[in-house]
Amino acid sequence: MKKWNVSAVRAAKGKQKLGCCTAYDACFARLADEAGVPIVLVGDSMGMTMLGYETTLPVKMSETLSSVAAVARSVKNAMVVGDMPFGSYQCGDDEAMRNAVAIIQAGADAVKLEGGARVCGLIRRMTEAGIPVLAHVGMTPQSVNEYGGFKKQGKTADAAAQVLADAKAVEEAGAFAVTLECIPSELAARITEELSIVTVGIGAGPACDAQWLVMHDLLGLNEKAPSFVKQYAHLAGEVRDAFAAYVAEVATGAFPAK
Ligand code: KIV
Repeated sequence: MKKWNVSAVRAAKGKQKLGCCTAYDACFARLADEAGVPIVLVGDSMGMTMLGYETTLPVKMSETLSSVAAVARSVKNAMVVGDMPFGSYQCGDDEAMRNAVAIIQAGADAVKLEGGARVCGLIRRMTEAGIPVLAHVGMTPQSVNEYGGFKKQGKTADAAAQVLADAKAVEEAGAFAVTLECIPSELAARITEELSIVTVGIGAGPACDAQWLVMHDLLGLNEKAPSFVKQYAHLAGEVRDAFAAYVAEVATGAFPAK
């Protein structure tokens, strides 16, 4: 199987659509890798999927680092992208650089951070330092308090022009790919056409070069998945049934066997 890295992702543009997803632990990262997922994102969505928070905002660097390390130890061919948690790149560029370095040293091949023009200085500095950056524009969940909820972005002509300008700015700053989250599909199609880097959509329609799905959504572990999600399995029910069968068999004495 092919080993994924920045050059392979860049080369896929216009040739191969990439189905990418999140993973946060060794077990699921290994399974995603064995299945051929090209990019595994250790997303700050772990705040909601793994840690039980309402938003991504409480995720800490320490949680990111242990997750990145577990995932990186468990994949052979997938590229591992570590999401920079809220607060890890907002308090000064030197601190942001130290945190990006820590994510790479934990085993990630690249970092992801949210924002367009306003984070271009950082993207430039990171790429110049040899840290590949996957940018993230459109609906950026770390701005949830600014939006007043997880709301689709780029809906008016002005807002769409802003998202397009942000996407062009992060490309110009050196990002090797850009996440387009929750924007109209026509806008995502236009950005995908105008940019020479890979666009990775989530809730942004079919025209993007690649797609993200949060692992818990695609596997049906999260029963309240957003409407754009396709569930490729319905594991929540199976897992619940397995736990219940185990509890029942221990209670009746059917397990363990003599
Ligand atoms: O944290 C995450 O899972 C993400 C994806 C939604 C792209 O940023």
